[in-house]
Amino acid sequence: MRRLTTLVALTLTATLSAGFTLAEPPDPSLASLSTERRLQLGAALSKPEWPVDPLLYDTLTTHFNTVVPESELKWMWVHPERDVYDFTLADAMVEWAEMNGFDIRGGPLIWHQSLPPWITEGDWTRSELIAVMRDHIHTVVGRYRGRISQWDVVNEAFEPNGTVYVGEHSVWGRVIGPEFIDLAFKFAHEADPDAELYLNDYGAEALNAKSDGIYHFAKGMVERGVPIDGFGMQMHTPLPFPDPHEVAKNMARFGALKLKVAYTEMDVRIEHPDTSLVPPSPYWLNWQAHAYRMLTDVCVAAPNCDTIIMWGVTDLHSWVPHQHPGYGWAHLWDKQYQPKPAFYAVRDSLLYTPTRGAG
Ligand code: XIL
Repeated sequence: MRRLTTLVALTLTATLSAGFTLAEPPDPSLASLSTERRLQLGAALSKPEWPVDPLLYDTLTTHFNTVVPESELKWMWVHPERDVYDFTLADAMVEWAEMNGFDIRGGPLIWHQSLPPWITEGDWTRSELIAVMRDHIHTVVGRYRGRISQWDVVNEAFEPNGTVYVGEHSVWGRVIGPEFIDLAFKFAHEADPDAELYLNDYGAEALNAKSDGIYHFAKGMVERGVPIDGFGMQMHTPLPFPDPHEVAKNMARFGALKLKVAYTEMDVRIEHPDTSLVPPSPYWLNWQAHAYRMLTDVCVAAPNCDTIIMWGVTDLHSWVPHQHPGYGWAHLWDKQYQPKPAFYAVRDSLLYTPTRGAG
């Protein structure tokens, strides 16, 4: 009897452990899963931690197939004076990325921020400013022709009500008018006809007045024959996060225009001081993971979404607390480079979401 009990116990243990072994998902790299799905999974690279932090190097090379210079291609950095271009840092990042086998996304080419004073304080006529813009875009895009595969051409050009911002804070809209957008795309296409060109913005991920306005403007660009390839949703998101069904519908309407979509600057911030020695509670970390899972699922399942860029890799180096005091903890790895629930959520999305176009 005792032998029988022992046998039953042993069988049960074997069955259970076999069951647990099977239930444990494999732990492949996000990069290999993304590459299998033909997805560009990228991360923003930023000074000063790049390229000196060895853990960042390992995480980037294991889990990402694409990188984006976080600021080093912005106007202020590459074109500080009217007659001075400085590509020292941008070249270093691009060469490093190529050496390590990454695809590279660049931009923004035209934005009302990160501009040097010679642009913002200049007393421009419309035609002068168009000539300056043309020279800048031709020089920057031309320098990396065939090496940078996607550009954010125009960034944050729309008001919350969906119209193009032509107020005093944007030298482009104020001096040139809304046509600066078409012109910027035209110049970028002249400089690299093979690069994919994106209009990029925030707060326009779900369905709202802003995303409606951008959609109608993009439709107009397509009708006017402007060389636009896609719309970039920045996806800097607080909790609660944008409704995934609405994001999917938004993606689909751009798809109907034969335009792509991308998440270009994804992070999911938590209201918990970055300086706190205690991490956010499991409630917040799981909610954050849920946001990453649901939103990644939407892109992976959409036939016209093939790019997700994370605006940072680890909570150790993050732009979030600077921009949103009181918030942080927004990325897939914690400050010790331990994967968070959000990492496993993205991994599971890449593992289990039905094949693109089928979901
Ligand atoms: C931010 C960078 O992350 C910061 O390091 C920099 O100081 C300012 O710019 N939307 C954008 C990005 O399009 O270019 C911004 O990047 C974040 C908001």
